[in-house]
Amino acid sequence: MDIPPRETLRLSAADPAALARAAALLAAGRLVAFPTETVYGLGADAANPRAVADLYAAKGRPAFNPLIAHTATPAQAFSIGAFPDAAARLAARFWPGPLTLVVPFAGGEAVCELARAGLATVALRVPSHPVALALLAAFGGAVVAPSANRSGRVSPTEAPHVAADLSGRIDAILDGGPTEVGVESTIVDAAGPHLRLLRPGGVPRAAIEAVLGHPLALAGAQDAARPAAPGRLASHYAPRARVRLDAEALAPGEALLTFAGARLPGAEAAQAVIDLSPSGDLAEAAARLYGALRALDATGAGAIAVVPLPRHDLGEAIADRLARAAAPRPGPEETPQ
Ligand code: TXA
Ligand code: MG
Repeated sequence: MDIPPRETLRLSAADPAALARAAALLAAGRLVAFPTETVYGLGADAANPRAVADLYAAKGRPAFNPLIAHTATPAQAFSIGAFPDAAARLAARFWPGPLTLVVPFAGGEAVCELARAGLATVALRVPSHPVALALLAAFGGAVVAPSANRSGRVSPTEAPHVAADLSGRIDAILDGGPTEVGVESTIVDAAGPHLRLLRPGGVPRAAIEAVLGHPLALAGAQDAARPAAPGRLASHYAPRARVRLDAEALAPGEALLTFAGARLPGAEAAQAVIDLSPSGDLAEAAARLYGALRALDATGAGAIAVVPLPRHDLGEAIADRLARAAAPRPGPEETPQ
């Protein structure tokens, strides 16, 4: 999918004029990457189908994957979706923050059909990053924003990651420094009779279950033909190097992604070693995950071996992303986002 080159402005979020510039670009139907607390998003006016089509083209993402609409306030989100009681309680507890709620679409013009991929539901999120909130407030409407990476690649947690993937394909990058959470938002489907976890993410499952007062079912097997969250295909977040999970020893030519100081036999000969959190802190590990995958990939290692990691708290989201990075790569008819 080729698009004519665009001049990509680098804007510093510390510059007050930059926010106004970025908001004006969005209003003009342009594409602006901006920081959220999870990862950098590639923003477009959710109401503008032409802008949304350009966004899909810039990412190289197939148009049938629906996007998350971001708003400055919960009240705006409540006017776009019809929130069942449980969804409203989750919004009250976790917004602004790294939770996306899928709810029935309430109609109206704020999120165009293309952004919803024609579904009767809509995914909504109020992010907590001050730059994201300031941009959304300055723009005024809902902004759709997938992660600001080329389709199928590792999500960006710093402005230079965005530039590496999308320079010349988008109109601006608003640089707000490294993101804090480091993995995407948790997605809960609240549109059906039973709430389901569509994607583990920045809000741990246990925190959501504590609000609901019951366990949250994980959406069924991620079948490439009929993913539970459309577009959630097995292979995703993939560096160029092969990713090998639950490694017990290092093979020649491999790089090592480790945690809490764990060392594997053969690690002395590793291309490179990154410890996601020497102190064993899963939140720190999540924040560093994508940057570490990019850095190890850049060493030219043939494979990245990953030690077994804990699965609790943010470990569930980390394990989900690593499993997708390790999955067989898609053929031409399959479609990572
Ligand atoms: O943290 C995040 O969520 C980041 C930042 C930028 O906000 N955004 C992000 O967007 O991860 P994206 O497009 O990479 O992932 C959105 C996911 C996709 O898997 C999509 O299929 C799912 O949300 N989704 C969107 N609308 C949906 C809907 N109506 N029903 C089910 N899944 C939906
Ligand atoms: Mg993504």
